[in-house]
Amino acid sequence: MPAHGPSQPDTEGPRPGSVTLPLHTLHHSLSDPSLESMNVLNEASRQYPDAISFAAGRPYEELFDIAQVHRHLEEFCRYLEADRGWHPAQARRAIFQYGRTKGIVHNLVAATLAQDERMRVDPEVIVMTIGCQEGLFLVARALRTDARGVALAVAPTYVGFAGAARLAELPVLPLRAGPESIGLDDLVRTVRRARKVGLRPRACYLVPDLANPLGIGLSVLTRRALLAAAAECDLLILDDNPFGLFSLLSERPPTLKALDSERRVIHLGSFAQTAFPGARVGYVIADQALSADGGAGLLADRPAAIKSMITVNISSPTGQIETALTCRTAQYAPAAELPGRLRGTLTTMAGDPDRPLSALTRFPEPGSRTGAPGTTAPPGNGTWGGAG
Ligand SMILES: Cc1ncc(COP(=O)(O)O)c(C=O)c1O
Repeated sequence: MPAHGPSQPDTEGPRPGSVTLPLHTLHHSLSDPSLESMNVLNEASRQYPDAISFAAGRPYEELFDIAQVHRHLEEFCRYLEADRGWHPAQARRAIFQYGRTKGIVHNLVAATLAQDERMRVDPEVIVMTIGCQEGLFLVARALRTDARGVALAVAPTYVGFAGAARLAELPVLPLRAGPESIGLDDLVRTVRRARKVGLRPRACYLVPDLANPLGIGLSVLTRRALLAAAAECDLLILDDNPFGLFSLLSERPPTLKALDSERRVIHLGSFAQTAFPGARVGYVIADQALSADGGAGLLADRPAAIKSMITVNISSPTGQIETALTCRTAQYAPAAELPGRLRGTLTTMAGDPDRPLSALTRFPEPGSRTGAPGTTAPPGNGTWGGAG
């Protein structure tokens, strides 16, 4: 131990007489190396801060400005008082106190989704979460009833969903990837096969735009066909859409939720890639009605109940305020401008002499197995990392 400074962690293994826990006595998911993937990516970015990461979805840091955080806090309080008519004491309470489990920026998020995604949703069906990652776990946990319940996902799938499902003990059946990521014939076949052996497919997870890690997306035609196939198979769709705003198509395709006339789609969103990953703000839209004697309310209230036992509510000021900021900024910077902004960011990155893009040739080819341990995916966890 050094003469000064904090004591060092004990890294030399167990001392005689101290408690040792065999790994197999912990939850079985903890023996799965894929649960380490996020840590590996975060650690790699921490160790090589100047590398352009095409692995983790990290926005371009030159656009960050600490002063913004203070401005946005003030902006949020102004919104609560001027737009919502709250008394200053109420606004102060909203910032400092325990808050509504489903979050307090649901109205702003609903307005943003209406503008940017052409999705009209009742704010009450929005659950604000600690990043999309928490939303993935809450939904997987809520859908997991017994050992027969399974989800489906195109392989390779986003490691965050695979890990969340593993923690929730919801097995994921792999679907074969097609030219638009999901192959509908394979989806229907897999569901039928699963039912024949007594399994209960609950939902199909996918990232319809710039799928992580495949990098491809679904045409509008395939989106409609997928919804029809899901209806035929009586499946829910888990529509994870963190990258939709980055589409470089002249007309962005509608989200699956925007096309969903049957309330078959649970939509998961994030403000991490588009704004501020450190704030950890995501959301789940679950507008499905629940049936039970006397009615059982909305599906959204069940993930919220699980959340109330894990993280209670999203953090303010950072989380709620940053969401508010993003929503309001979105009103000034419509989605149509984003492809241009993205190109600008990429051009800036490419023009930075300290970060030659040619260095990318040092990275392994897609498909080689040098990514996070235990993942079935090509290296990294995303194709659009770094471009925010
Ligand atoms: C497919 C997918 N969904 C969601 C997220 C974002 O999750 P979060 O909001 O927890 O940062 C990512 C981040 O890389 C992702 O790739």
